Amino acid sequence: MTAPSTVLVTGGAGFIGSHVCVELLDHGYELIVVDNYSNSTPQVLTRAERIAGRFVGAVYELDIRDRQALSAVFDRHSVDAVVHFAAHKAVGESTRMPIEYYDTNVGGTTSLLRTMHEHGVHRLVFSSSSSIYGNAGRGPLDEATPARPTNPYAASKWICEQILADACRRCSEYTVLCLRYFNPAGAHPSGLLGEDPHGTPDNLMPYLAQVAIGRRERLRVFGDDYPTSDGTAIRDYLHVMDTVEAHRIALDHLADSTGMHVYNLGVGKGSTVLDVVAAFSEVCGRPIPYEIGPRRPGDVAELVADATAVARAWGWRPDRNLADICRDAWRFQQLNPDGYVGSARRANTKD
Ligand code: UD1
Repeated sequence: MTAPSTVLVTGGAGFIGSHVCVELLDHGYELIVVDNYSNSTPQVLTRAERIAGRFVGAVYELDIRDRQALSAVFDRHSVDAVVHFAAHKAVGESTRMPIEYYDTNVGGTTSLLRTMHEHGVHRLVFSSSSSIYGNAGRGPLDEATPARPTNPYAASKWICEQILADACRRCSEYTVLCLRYFNPAGAHPSGLLGEDPHGTPDNLMPYLAQVAIGRRERLRVFGDDYPTSDGTAIRDYLHVMDTVEAHRIALDHLADSTGMHVYNLGVGKGSTVLDVVAAFSEVCGRPIPYEIGPRRPGDVAELVADATAVARAWGWRPDRNLADICRDAWRFQQLNPDGYVGSARRANTKD
């Protein structure tokens, strides 16, 4: 079987999705994007096209749980493979809205799988999460670490993985590459694409960037009583550009063998929240104000990747560090102080 050339990207206007679109356009893929813009905006795709100098083949505003609408997309295009990002992803929110999380993340995935199957499409790259490991303890975690999700977001990703594994067992035509991200962050080096969530950011990096630009007063550090060097939680921050390169390489390997294959995507190096605050302060040239607050429900002390399996299988290794992540996130924030929508409003006012 040959490598795919027409790829459908669900959630293609999202943070990682939009960067993947640029990467795939740059490498000659034909793209079909579906997104319901629940946490993104259509302008993102225009920017992705501007960076790549090419158009996305077709864009559909739809919710992947709408099987009729999704099916019409597969009727219209000859899709070789799917990269599936569309999902809710905020840990804190998931503890407050568990049913919404299971409905969107699990229901979206089953709807997609059924529609793919009906159209004879069986090649999928799935966006999973290191959060499925839960409170697994200290040190790098490999893919054999037992899943112990500590919040509904993580549980929804783990359920999806089990559904995908069952689908692969049931139908020998499937190839599923499941990528467990640690903490993707940063932005496209052009400053045109980055992380711009609706409302108050849940994730550390966009929150820090908004404090640095003056949109928010100070960062609240969630807990300083973890068993770590400075008491704040440790994560493995991976540049979004390294993350998207892994997806492009994954597509090259979809033709290798059928079945489900699971890989961690991380750097293998942990940073505390205060390490990230210091690194961001360094690149933006001013101290970031912060206060210590209580732990966030569902958070764990440490999550660091053992990413040797993917290096062995595909030769993928991240080559950007925390300073690069902060520098690119800061560039995006400076060029888009009020995010994508704010930038569009300013451009319209100038006309
Ligand atoms: C979580 C998931 C991860 C997922 C990501 C997507 C877990 C353990 N990890 O990452 O798999 O890909 O969401 O959104 O469920 N922090 C603060 N103040 C803030 C924001 C964050 O101190 O305002 C701290 C958090 O407590 C955490 C670290 O910064 O220790 C990173 O948080 P965040 O960026 O939200 O990502 P995770 O929760 O690690």
